[in-house]
Amino acid sequence: MNFFDTDFHCHILPGIDDGASDLDVSLSLIKTQAAQGVKTIIATPHYRKHELSVERFLKRRQTAYESVMSHAYPGMPRILLAAEIALEHNLYELDDIEQLGNAEMNTLLLEFPFTTSYHKWMVEEVEEIAYKTRMQIIIAHIDRYVDIFSESEINEILSIPDAIFQLNLSAFSERKGKKLAKKLIKEEYPILFGTDCHNMTSRKPNFDALAKNMKKYEPHPKVQNLFR
Ligand SMILES: [Fe+2]
Repeated sequence: MNFFDTDFHCHILPGIDDGASDLDVSLSLIKTQAAQGVKTIIATPHYRKHELSVERFLKRRQTAYESVMSHAYPGMPRILLAAEIALEHNLYELDDIEQLGNAEMNTLLLEFPFTTSYHKWMVEEVEEIAYKTRMQIIIAHIDRYVDIFSESEINEILSIPDAIFQLNLSAFSERKGKKLAKKLIKEEYPILFGTDCHNMTSRKPNFDALAKNMKKYEPHPKVQNLFR
């Protein structure tokens, strides 16, 4: 398991969010990821505090995971369970928020809202969660915010202490996303990648873009630490 064979963000579990609609789609996604070089999949279904308790989410996630594992095949990528947690006011007060993280790597993947403009509370909330949980915060698909937040707002997110920034591999095929990816690489931010794949049509696995665009890249020490 390393930086170049781990998909840090994807929606491959069946019937739990807007990702894989059923088991067939899940298995197609997993097989495609595997063919593109993925050996470890971190499954990150959406979690929204205002919709569901952590307890119910974990039960639903476990059921979805078990249905995939009942069709496990030799050489299938390993699947680790986590979540893509939507930032909301007072999210840090959620007692069992740690359980939404990737237990093996002690990480929490947090997503900024797309439905509202940028506000300072968002970064403050992330810092509260980091402080409370002592877990490694990963900011989901930083490249996707370039269309909704200003450059100075993106810079505020990038200045969150100790965070790791996840990029979607689709960033490499988009002008603004590619520009941001290049900046983060050049300025040596701790970054990692995910496909954020949801289905086999509009949001397909594209893990092959990692090897293509990141040849000879040396991951940031903070990211390398995740694999120890
Ligand atoms: Fe996602």
